[in-house]
Amino acid sequence: MNHFIKVTEDTYWLGVNDHQTDLFESLWPLPKGVTYNSYLIKDEKSVLIDTVKAPYLTDLIDKIKAILGKDGKLDYLVVNHMEPDHSGAIKILRCVFPELKIVGNSQTKGMLESFYGICDDLVIVQDGDSLGLGKHKLFFHLVPMVHWPETMVTYDSTTRTLFSCDAFGGFGSLDGGIFDDELDMTYYEDEVLRYFSNIVGRYSAQVQKAINKLQGLDIGIVAPSHGPIHRKNPGRIIDLYDRWSRQETECGAVVVFGSMYGNTQKMADAVARALAEEGIEKLIYHDISRSHVSYVVKDIWRMRGLVLASCTYNTTLFPPMAELLNHLKNKMMKGRMIGILGSYSWSKGALQALEEFASSGNWDLIEPMVEVKSSPFDEDISKCMELGRNMAEKMKLCYVKE
Ligand SMILES: Cc1cc2nc3c(=O)[nH]c(=O)nc-3n(C[C@H](O)[C@H](O)[C@H](O)COP(=O)(O)O)c2cc1C
Ligand SMILES: [Fe+2]
Ligand SMILES: [Fe+2]
Repeated sequence: MNHFIKVTEDTYWLGVNDHQTDLFESLWPLPKGVTYNSYLIKDEKSVLIDTVKAPYLTDLIDKIKAILGKDGKLDYLVVNHMEPDHSGAIKILRCVFPELKIVGNSQTKGMLESFYGICDDLVIVQDGDSLGLGKHKLFFHLVPMVHWPETMVTYDSTTRTLFSCDAFGGFGSLDGGIFDDELDMTYYEDEVLRYFSNIVGRYSAQVQKAINKLQGLDIGIVAPSHGPIHRKNPGRIIDLYDRWSRQETECGAVVVFGSMYGNTQKMADAVARALAEEGIEKLIYHDISRSHVSYVVKDIWRMRGLVLASCTYNTTLFPPMAELLNHLKNKMMKGRMIGILGSYSWSKGALQALEEFASSGNWDLIEPMVEVKSSPFDEDISKCMELGRNMAEKMKLCYVKE
C-alpha cells in the first residue's frame, strides 16, 4: 500500500523520511532525521519537482507509479537544485521514465553533465520563464547561492504554491504531520534556523536578494525540500528567513567555554552570572567539547552577544574552540558583540588567538578582555563580571534605541 499525501487537489507530497543518515552533508547531526521532499503535480502534463537522495529512489518510483497509474507518463522533472540530496535519483529516474524532460537553467545544465553525464532532453529556462501544464502554470525564479549557483525556486500560480527547495527548509523528519498546522513548529523552526545558519547563512546577502525578488508573488503555500510544508502561516517562515538573513538579533547572549579542568569554565560562569544579574534572560551556555558546533552556531546566529572562553592548549586555542572559530569565520556574521577570556599556565596563546579572531571580523569587542594564569582568583572573577555587566548594559541600550 502506497502512502502519499495531497498538498492541494492535484499536487502530491512524495517526501521520504531519512532516519538512517546520522550526519547531513557528513557534517550536521540529525537526531530526528531529515526529509527529502519531492512533489508531483498531476495535470495534462505531469511534473515532478525535485527528487530524493539516491537510496530512497525505489520509494519515490513506487509513489509516482501509484499516482500516475502503471503506464502513466511523467513528462517533466524540475530540478531546482543539484545537490545530491535532491538530484540523486535523476539518472535512474530517466531509465524508468524515458520520455522525461528535465527542466533547469543554464547552470543546472553544466551540473547535470558533470554529476550524471546527462546532456539531452533538457528544457533550459531563464529567470521568470513559465511552463504550462494544463490547469497549472509554473514560473521559474533563479535564486543563485541559495544554496548553490544553479539554485532556483518554482512557483505554481494556480495553487499559489512556492516550491522553494533548500530555502525555508530544515532538519527533522515528518513522521505523521507534514504541514505547519499539524506539527510542533517550535521544534521545526529551531531546526530551520540550524539549517539556515550552518548551511545557507554565509549567503545571507543572496537570501535577501531572493526574498526581494519573490516579494511580488502571492504565496499561499511554501513547500520546501526539507521539513514542514507551510500552508497555515506561509508568511511566518518567510519573515523569519528575512530576519535571520538581515542578521537581525535578539537581546540575549551565548556563552561558550572550552575547558579541560574547570578553571576557564569558572571565568565563563562569572560572565554568565553578571549577564543574568543585569537582566539578560535569553542566555545560552555551551561547553564546546560537548555541544555540537552546529547547535552553537545556530544559537550565536540568534543572539546579539557572544562570550568565548578558552584555555590554552599546546600554545594556542583549545581545539574544539578553534573549530568553532573556523565555522564562525566562514559564516561572515555581522553586528554582534563579543567578549573574550583566556587561561594558560606557562606560555599563553588562547587569548591572543581569540583577540586575532575578534579583530579580524565584524565584531564589537567589549572590554575588559580577561587573561588568567592557571586559576581565576577574586580579582579575576571581578573582571569577568565587569565584562558581563558591560555587555549587558550596551546590549540593553541597543534594544531601547532600535
Ligand atoms: C594538554 C595540555 C596542554 C597545555 N598547553 C599549554 C600551553 O601550550 N601553554 C600554556 O600556557 N598552558 C598550557 N596548558 C595549561 C592550561 O592552559 C592551563 O592550565 C589552564 O588554566 C587550564 O584551564 P582549564 O582548567 O579550564 O582546562 C596546557 C594544559 C594541558 C592539559
Ligand atoms: Fe543544498
Ligand atoms: Fe537540500
